[in-house]
Amino acid sequence: MPDVLYEKTGDRLAWVTLNRPQVLNAINMAMRDQLWEIMHAVRDDPEVEVVIFKGAGDRAFSAGADIKEFGTAPTYADARRARRERDLWGFMLSLDCALIAAIQGYALGAGIELPMCCDIRIASEDARMGLPEVTLGYIPSAGGTQTLPRHMPPGIAMEMILTGDPIDAQTAFHHGLVQKIVPHGRLYPEAEALAGRILRGGPEAVRLVKRAVVEGLEMPLEDALALEGRLAERALISADAREGLRAKVEGREPKFAGG
Ligand code: COA
Repeated sequence: MPDVLYEKTGDRLAWVTLNRPQVLNAINMAMRDQLWEIMHAVRDDPEVEVVIFKGAGDRAFSAGADIKEFGTAPTYADARRARRERDLWGFMLSLDCALIAAIQGYALGAGIELPMCCDIRIASEDARMGLPEVTLGYIPSAGGTQTLPRHMPPGIAMEMILTGDPIDAQTAFHHGLVQKIVPHGRLYPEAEALAGRILRGGPEAVRLVKRAVVEGLEMPLEDALALEGRLAERALISADAREGLRAKVEGREPKFAGG
Protein backbone atom coordinates (compact mmCIF):
# COMPACT_ATOMS: atom_id res chain seq x y z
CA MET A 1 0.00 0.00 0.00
CA PRO A 2 1.50 3.42 -0.92
CA ASP A 3 2.34 5.85 1.88
CA VAL A 4 0.19 8.48 0.18
CA LEU A 5 -3.11 7.51 -1.43
CA TYR A 6 -4.55 9.50 -4.31
CA GLU A 7 -8.16 8.86 -5.25
CA LYS A 8 -10.26 10.72 -7.78
CA THR A 9 -13.98 10.43 -7.11
CA GLY A 10 -14.93 11.08 -10.73
CA ASP A 11 -16.84 14.25 -9.94
CA ARG A 12 -13.94 16.74 -10.00
CA LEU A 13 -12.92 15.95 -6.42
CA ALA A 14 -9.77 14.11 -5.34
CA TRP A 15 -8.67 12.81 -1.93
CA VAL A 16 -5.07 12.69 -0.78
CA THR A 17 -4.52 10.45 2.25
CA LEU A 18 -1.31 10.43 4.30
CA ASN A 19 -1.16 6.72 4.87
CA ARG A 20 1.25 5.65 7.62
CA PRO A 21 -1.20 5.34 10.51
CA GLN A 22 1.20 3.12 12.49
CA VAL A 23 3.49 6.16 12.94
CA LEU A 24 0.69 8.76 13.09
CA ASN A 25 1.24 9.54 9.38
CA ALA A 26 4.71 10.95 10.00
CA ILE A 27 5.99 12.36 6.71
CA ASN A 28 9.17 10.73 5.43
CA MET A 29 11.13 11.44 2.24
CA ALA A 30 9.24 8.76 0.30
CA MET A 31 5.96 10.48 1.18
CA ARG A 32 7.34 13.86 0.15
CA ASP A 33 8.33 12.36 -3.20
CA GLN A 34 4.87 10.84 -3.62
CA LEU A 35 3.18 14.11 -2.66
CA TRP A 36 5.41 15.90 -5.18
CA GLU A 37 4.23 13.56 -7.97
CA ILE A 38 0.60 13.77 -6.88
CA MET A 39 0.61 17.57 -6.70
CA HIS A 40 1.97 17.72 -10.25
CA ALA A 41 -0.74 15.30 -11.39
CA VAL A 42 -3.32 17.57 -9.72
CA ARG A 43 -1.90 20.66 -11.45
CA ASP A 44 -2.01 18.99 -14.86
CA ASP A 45 -5.44 17.36 -14.50
CA PRO A 46 -8.30 19.64 -15.58
CA GLU A 47 -10.74 17.08 -14.14
CA VAL A 48 -9.61 17.87 -10.58
CA GLU A 49 -10.96 21.10 -9.11
CA VAL A 50 -10.97 20.41 -5.38
CA VAL A 51 -8.55 18.30 -3.33
CA ILE A 52 -9.15 17.16 0.25
CA PHE A 53 -6.16 16.10 2.37
CA LYS A 54 -6.63 13.72 5.29
CA GLY A 55 -4.68 11.35 7.52
CA ALA A 56 -5.29 7.59 7.68
CA GLY A 57 -6.36 5.96 10.94
CA ASP A 58 -8.17 7.89 13.62
CA ARG A 59 -5.38 9.41 15.72
CA ALA A 60 -3.66 11.97 13.53
CA PHE A 61 -3.66 14.05 10.43
CA SER A 62 0.11 13.80 10.74
CA ALA A 63 2.60 13.98 13.63
CA GLY A 64 5.00 15.86 11.34
CA ALA A 65 8.29 15.05 9.69
CA ASP A 66 9.52 11.53 10.38
CA ILE A 67 11.91 12.15 13.26
CA LYS A 68 13.44 8.69 12.92
CA GLU A 69 14.53 9.61 9.40
CA PHE A 70 15.93 13.03 10.42
CA GLY A 71 19.57 13.48 9.66
CA THR A 72 19.77 10.39 7.45
CA ALA A 73 20.52 12.42 4.31
CA PRO A 74 24.23 11.98 3.43
CA THR A 75 25.01 15.59 4.39
CA TYR A 76 23.07 18.67 5.47
CA ALA A 77 23.97 20.25 2.13
CA ASP A 78 22.32 17.29 0.34
CA ALA A 79 19.22 17.67 2.47
CA ARG A 80 19.05 21.40 1.75
CA ARG A 81 19.53 20.85 -1.99
CA ALA A 82 16.79 18.19 -2.08
CA ARG A 83 14.44 20.63 -0.36
CA ARG A 84 15.30 23.45 -2.76
CA GLU A 85 14.92 21.27 -5.85
CA ARG A 86 11.58 19.96 -4.65
CA ASP A 87 9.83 22.83 -2.94
CA LEU A 88 6.68 20.84 -2.21
CA TRP A 89 5.11 23.46 0.03
CA GLY A 90 5.77 26.33 -2.37
CA PHE A 91 4.37 24.20 -5.17
CA MET A 92 1.19 23.51 -3.19
CA LEU A 93 0.78 27.24 -2.54
CA SER A 94 1.00 27.87 -6.30
CA LEU A 95 -1.81 25.46 -7.26
CA ASP A 96 -4.96 27.14 -8.51
CA CYS A 97 -7.47 24.42 -7.63
CA ALA A 98 -9.10 24.57 -4.19
CA LEU A 99 -7.32 22.66 -1.41
CA ILE A 100 -9.08 21.60 1.81
CA ALA A 101 -7.39 20.01 4.84
CA ALA A 102 -9.52 17.76 7.05
CA ILE A 103 -7.60 17.65 10.32
CA GLN A 104 -8.14 15.05 13.03
CA GLY A 105 -6.03 14.30 16.10
CA TYR A 106 -2.38 15.34 16.00
CA ALA A 107 -1.32 17.87 13.37
CA LEU A 108 2.22 18.76 14.37
CA GLY A 109 5.16 20.26 12.50
CA ALA A 110 4.75 19.45 8.80
CA GLY A 111 1.42 17.95 9.87
CA ILE A 112 0.03 21.46 10.32
CA GLU A 113 2.34 23.13 7.79
CA LEU A 114 0.79 21.06 4.98
CA PRO A 115 -2.75 22.16 5.94
CA MET A 116 -1.50 25.76 6.09
CA CYS A 117 -0.64 25.42 2.38
CA CYS A 118 -4.33 24.64 1.82
CA ASP A 119 -7.13 27.15 1.34
CA ILE A 120 -9.55 25.94 4.02
CA ARG A 121 -8.98 23.87 7.15
CA ILE A 122 -11.72 21.87 8.91
CA ALA A 123 -10.84 20.19 12.20
CA SER A 124 -12.49 17.55 14.32
CA GLU A 125 -12.95 18.28 18.03
CA ASP A 126 -9.96 16.13 19.00
CA ALA A 127 -7.46 18.01 16.79
CA ARG A 128 -4.24 19.29 18.38
CA MET A 129 -2.06 21.55 16.28
CA GLY A 130 1.42 22.85 16.89
CA LEU A 131 4.96 23.50 15.71
CA PRO A 132 7.09 21.58 18.25
CA GLU A 133 10.35 21.93 16.31
CA VAL A 134 12.13 24.16 18.85
CA THR A 135 11.63 21.47 21.48
CA LEU A 136 13.72 19.24 19.18
CA GLY A 137 16.37 21.93 18.80
CA TYR A 138 15.19 22.52 15.26
CA ILE A 139 12.99 25.09 13.52
CA PRO A 140 9.96 24.64 11.24
CA SER A 141 11.07 24.20 7.64
CA ALA A 142 7.90 23.47 5.71
CA GLY A 143 6.91 27.13 5.77
CA GLY A 144 5.48 27.25 9.30
CA THR A 145 7.36 30.32 10.53
CA GLN A 146 5.83 32.27 7.63
CA THR A 147 2.42 30.65 7.15
CA LEU A 148 1.29 30.44 10.79
CA PRO A 149 1.54 34.22 11.44
CA ARG A 150 -0.38 34.74 8.18
CA HIS A 151 -3.22 32.48 9.33
CA MET A 152 -3.65 33.76 12.89
CA PRO A 153 -2.67 36.74 15.04
CA PRO A 154 1.15 37.03 14.87
CA GLY A 155 1.53 37.15 18.66
CA ILE A 156 -0.38 33.90 19.14
CA ALA A 157 1.57 32.32 16.28
CA MET A 158 4.82 33.53 17.84
CA GLU A 159 3.85 32.00 21.20
CA MET A 160 3.21 28.64 19.48
CA ILE A 161 6.46 28.81 17.50
CA LEU A 162 8.63 29.91 20.45
CA THR A 163 7.21 27.44 22.97
CA GLY A 164 6.34 24.54 20.66
CA ASP A 165 3.12 24.15 22.66
CA PRO A 166 0.17 22.77 20.69
CA ILE A 167 -3.31 24.31 20.71
CA ASP A 168 -6.65 22.53 20.65
CA ALA A 169 -9.33 22.77 17.96
CA GLN A 170 -11.36 25.41 19.83
CA THR A 171 -8.36 27.70 20.22
CA ALA A 172 -7.40 27.19 16.58
CA PHE A 173 -10.95 28.06 15.53
CA HIS A 174 -11.05 31.08 17.82
CA HIS A 175 -7.89 32.49 16.21
CA GLY A 176 -8.87 31.64 12.64
CA LEU A 177 -6.38 28.84 11.98
CA VAL A 178 -9.28 26.47 11.24
CA GLN A 179 -12.54 27.58 9.73
CA LYS A 180 -14.84 24.94 11.21
CA ILE A 181 -14.90 22.35 14.00
CA VAL A 182 -17.00 19.22 13.66
CA PRO A 183 -17.48 16.01 15.69
CA HIS A 184 -14.86 13.38 14.84
CA GLY A 185 -17.25 11.18 12.86
CA ARG A 186 -18.46 14.10 10.75
CA LEU A 187 -15.05 15.33 9.58
CA TYR A 188 -14.89 13.74 6.13
CA PRO A 189 -18.59 14.12 5.26
CA GLU A 190 -18.32 17.82 6.19
CA ALA A 191 -15.15 18.24 4.11
CA GLU A 192 -16.88 16.56 1.18
CA ALA A 193 -19.96 18.76 1.59
CA LEU A 194 -17.73 21.84 1.57
CA ALA A 195 -16.02 20.58 -1.58
CA GLY A 196 -19.47 20.08 -3.11
CA ARG A 197 -20.36 23.70 -2.39
CA ILE A 198 -17.16 24.87 -4.12
CA LEU A 199 -17.83 22.56 -7.06
CA ARG A 200 -21.19 24.28 -7.70
CA GLY A 201 -19.23 27.30 -8.96
CA GLY A 202 -17.87 27.72 -12.46
CA PRO A 203 -14.52 25.86 -12.60
CA GLU A 204 -12.69 28.69 -14.36
CA ALA A 205 -14.19 31.21 -11.93
CA VAL A 206 -13.07 29.15 -8.90
CA ARG A 207 -9.50 29.06 -10.21
CA LEU A 208 -9.45 32.77 -11.05
CA VAL A 209 -10.98 33.84 -7.76
CA LYS A 210 -8.46 31.78 -5.81
CA ARG A 211 -5.66 33.44 -7.78
CA ALA A 212 -7.11 36.87 -7.03
CA VAL A 213 -7.12 36.18 -3.29
CA VAL A 214 -3.77 34.35 -3.00
CA GLU A 215 -1.76 36.68 -5.25
CA GLY A 216 -3.61 39.79 -4.11
CA LEU A 217 -2.80 39.20 -0.45
CA GLU A 218 0.90 39.58 -1.25
CA MET A 219 0.39 42.94 -3.03
CA PRO A 220 -0.37 46.52 -2.06
CA LEU A 221 -4.16 47.05 -2.24
CA GLU A 222 -3.98 49.19 -5.38
CA ASP A 223 -2.08 46.50 -7.32
CA ALA A 224 -4.33 43.79 -5.90
CA LEU A 225 -7.44 45.62 -7.12
CA ALA A 226 -5.87 45.95 -10.57
CA LEU A 227 -5.17 42.20 -10.51
CA GLU A 228 -8.81 41.53 -9.60
CA GLY A 229 -9.88 43.73 -12.51
CA ARG A 230 -7.74 41.80 -14.99
CA LEU A 231 -8.96 38.44 -13.72
CA ALA A 232 -12.58 39.64 -13.73
CA GLU A 233 -12.23 40.58 -17.40
CA ARG A 234 -10.97 37.09 -18.13
CA ALA A 235 -13.81 35.53 -16.14
CA LEU A 236 -16.42 37.62 -17.90
CA ILE A 237 -15.49 36.40 -21.38
CA SER A 238 -15.31 32.73 -20.31
CA ALA A 239 -17.85 30.15 -21.45
CA ASP A 240 -18.62 29.50 -17.78
CA ALA A 241 -19.69 33.10 -17.23
CA ARG A 242 -21.91 33.05 -20.33
CA GLU A 243 -23.56 29.83 -19.10
CA GLY A 244 -23.80 30.95 -15.45
CA LEU A 245 -25.40 34.29 -16.27
CA ARG A 246 -27.78 32.75 -18.83
CA ALA A 247 -28.84 30.01 -16.38
CA LYS A 248 -29.55 32.60 -13.68
CA VAL A 249 -31.73 34.63 -16.04
CA GLU A 250 -33.54 31.49 -17.17
CA GLY A 251 -33.99 30.30 -13.58
CA ARG A 252 -32.20 26.95 -14.02
CA GLU A 253 -29.04 25.26 -12.69
CA PRO A 254 -25.93 26.12 -14.76
CA LYS A 255 -24.18 23.40 -16.76
CA PHE A 256 -20.54 24.43 -16.66
CA ALA A 257 -18.22 22.98 -19.27
CA GLY A 258 -15.24 23.05 -16.89
CA GLY A 259 -11.67 24.23 -17.17
N1 COA B 1 8.16 10.62 13.30
C1 COA B 1 8.31 9.30 13.34
N2 COA B 1 7.54 8.48 14.10
C2 COA B 1 6.57 9.07 14.84
C3 COA B 1 6.36 10.47 14.84
C4 COA B 1 7.21 11.26 14.01
N3 COA B 1 7.07 12.60 13.91
N4 COA B 1 5.34 10.75 15.68
C5 COA B 1 4.92 9.58 16.18
N5 COA B 1 5.66 8.57 15.68
C6 COA B 1 5.52 7.13 15.97
C7 COA B 1 6.03 6.79 17.33
O1 COA B 1 7.43 6.59 17.34
C8 COA B 1 5.26 5.51 17.61
O2 COA B 1 5.86 4.47 16.89
P1 COA B 1 6.21 3.07 17.65
O3 COA B 1 4.86 2.52 18.03
O4 COA B 1 6.92 2.28 16.61
O5 COA B 1 7.03 3.43 18.83
C9 COA B 1 3.91 5.75 16.95
O6 COA B 1 4.13 6.80 16.00
C10 COA B 1 2.84 6.21 17.92
O7 COA B 1 3.33 7.37 18.60
P2 COA B 1 3.41 7.45 20.21
O8 COA B 1 4.47 8.46 20.54
O9 COA B 1 3.53 6.10 20.81
O10 COA B 1 1.95 8.02 20.52
P3 COA B 1 1.57 8.93 21.76
O11 COA B 1 0.08 9.02 21.75
O12 COA B 1 2.22 8.48 22.99
O13 COA B 1 2.17 10.39 21.41
C11 COA B 1 2.67 12.29 20.01
C12 COA B 1 1.74 11.10 20.28
C13 COA B 1 2.24 12.93 18.70
C14 COA B 1 2.54 13.32 21.15
C15 COA B 1 4.13 11.80 19.92
O14 COA B 1 4.16 10.70 19.03
C16 COA B 1 5.10 12.83 19.43
O15 COA B 1 5.46 13.72 20.16
N6 COA B 1 5.55 12.70 18.16
C17 COA B 1 6.53 13.60 17.58
C18 COA B 1 5.87 14.89 17.17
C19 COA B 1 6.87 15.86 16.63
O16 COA B 1 7.79 16.29 17.30
N7 COA B 1 6.68 16.27 15.34
C20 COA B 1 7.47 17.26 14.69
C21 COA B 1 8.62 16.66 13.99
S1 COA B 1 9.62 17.97 13.28
